[in-house]
Amino acid sequence: MAPGLCNTWLVARRSQFLPWQVAGQLTDRQQSADDVVMATGWEFNSTSGSDAQTLAEFVSSGDVEVSMYLDAFGLPADDTERRVLVEIGCGIGRMTSAFTKRFSCVYACDLDSGFLERCREAVAKFGRVDRLRTIHVPDGRTLDVPDGVADLTFSYITLQHCSRGDALSLAGESLRVLAPGGRIALNFRQRVWADVALLPLGKVVRAVFAVPGLGPWLSKHRTFTRLAWQVNRLDPHHVLGPIRDKVDDVVIWRNPRRSAPIWGAAGAELRYLDAINPAHWWLVARRR
Ligand SMILES: C[S@@+](CC[C@H](N)C(=O)[O-])C[C@H]1O[C@@H](n2cnc3c(N)ncnc32)[C@H](O)[C@@H]1O
Repeated sequence: MAPGLCNTWLVARRSQFLPWQVAGQLTDRQQSADDVVMATGWEFNSTSGSDAQTLAEFVSSGDVEVSMYLDAFGLPADDTERRVLVEIGCGIGRMTSAFTKRFSCVYACDLDSGFLERCREAVAKFGRVDRLRTIHVPDGRTLDVPDGVADLTFSYITLQHCSRGDALSLAGESLRVLAPGGRIALNFRQRVWADVALLPLGKVVRAVFAVPGLGPWLSKHRTFTRLAWQVNRLDPHHVLGPIRDKVDDVVIWRNPRRSAPIWGAAGAELRYLDAINPAHWWLVARRR
């Protein structure tokens, strides 16, 4: 392919990276992780509004959600002497700090290196930085983590922001890094009516992000940023199809308001939790 065409193709294929990379650059320019939360007002958790003003409040919203999800899903949460966790899409460490208090080693993986630096800062302040390893994911689809090292792979409000191919690749990676018997807890977003408008608008905003000089301006506006983040919607059968022969004890967790039967995920058990966003679902399973 000619170099010009190749660049255009790469920008188009990776347009979903742009809002994160611009946000990461803005993050880098702040004096501290506290300033990042105060100056940007990005809201990474999707519960009914973390109005976090400070890094401490932001991280404390992560503490609450880590406890809630680990307990609800029956995932390993103690025995920190030997358990290893891989977090896909750690951001600036909102949940990572809590994970380092419960696991002996946490591989915190993210697309953006600016976020990873802030994640280290947040964990140094609120968690156990001696247990943290930050892993850059420049291609958005493969994890530089050895095979079979982890007891749990966890990902929250991240896989919806990747291209469908990258999200499925990361789901495969979440199993590769697990020891046999290890568990995955992966959060996805499925289609809702609002997506008729949200997904095309997201594409348009990402195209505007690519216009030189406009990205940093858009990035300061929460509505544009959140629109640009909207990339894929996946149903359980999309995710389970490629990995079905590698997992057991498959549970799909949803909000009780989403009670329609799921199809194409034979053998999966359905369970419900009020705290789950009605547009989200979780895949919790054990590696064979
Ligand atoms: C909405 S934030 C969530 C952060 C964290 N899980 C939390 O709940 O606070 C999504 C994160 O996923 C990262 N991300 C997006 N696409 C990714 C990809 N393809 N691979 C790895 N990380 C990705 C972004 O850089 C961002 O830090």
